Amino acid sequence: MKIDIITLFPKMFDYVLNESIIKRAQKSGRVSITAHNLRDWTCDKHRTVDDKPFGGGAGMVMKPEPIFEAIASLRGVPLRKCCRGEAGRRSNPKTRIVLLTPQGKKLDQKSAKRLSKYKHLILICGHYEGVDERVRRHLATDEISIGDYVLTGGELPAMVLIDSVIRLIPNVLGHKDSARFESFEKGLLEYPHYTRPAEYRRMKVPKVLLSGNHSQIESWRKEEAVRRTKKRRPDLSGGN
Ligand code: ADE
Repeated sequence: MKIDIITLFPKMFDYVLNESIIKRAQKSGRVSITAHNLRDWTCDKHRTVDDKPFGGGAGMVMKPEPIFEAIASLRGVPLRKCCRGEAGRRSNPKTRIVLLTPQGKKLDQKSAKRLSKYKHLILICGHYEGVDERVRRHLATDEISIGDYVLTGGELPAMVLIDSVIRLIPNVLGHKDSARFESFEKGLLEYPHYTRPAEYRRMKVPKVLLSGNHSQIESWRKEEAVRRTKKRRPDLSGGN
């Protein structure tokens, strides 16, 4: 998978992309991620990316031209073919153009899984009061929010999205990291985990986990997952 990030702050991604599993996924060639500076697609001396909103009001709005230029160049299509309406989705069904915005659909495991199947993701990180509506209407194929709160920009949400998607790409998680039973799979939260020592400051690991009886362990884990889900997240289907 190829991931291109369009941002005003590419350096914000340096650390996150160069550690742990995301770093390994890139090294192994399974993923290639690049953070691009939106200002590289401006044409004026001041490298302007924002302007006052038509109709007045507070704040600045991100201009459409650099974003359209950026998408056209990252998709390798002429600018006139850049809009979703003309060529976007139909000409390259393997690419998604994701706008990170608090107005988007809330990211969940299901949408992360869906996005993990594409060959190319282009992420647009908004700032200021938001991006010009024409980007949303004619360019973005997906609008995604990471929760009902407003952040200063789309960079942190983009990092969250990348992390949630990358770990679902086949062979990105090694056997050691992989969880056969993960929270949100099957609409359940994960069961509790314990490791050595079996007793620490008189806090004991449940006996069943030390029993070596795998079918009993499996039943216990399932019951715990259901109990936990009912208590903490009754909205998830597996808890009902
Ligand atoms: N930009 C600002 N806040 C955001 C959020 N909650 N999700 C996605 N993008 C954002």
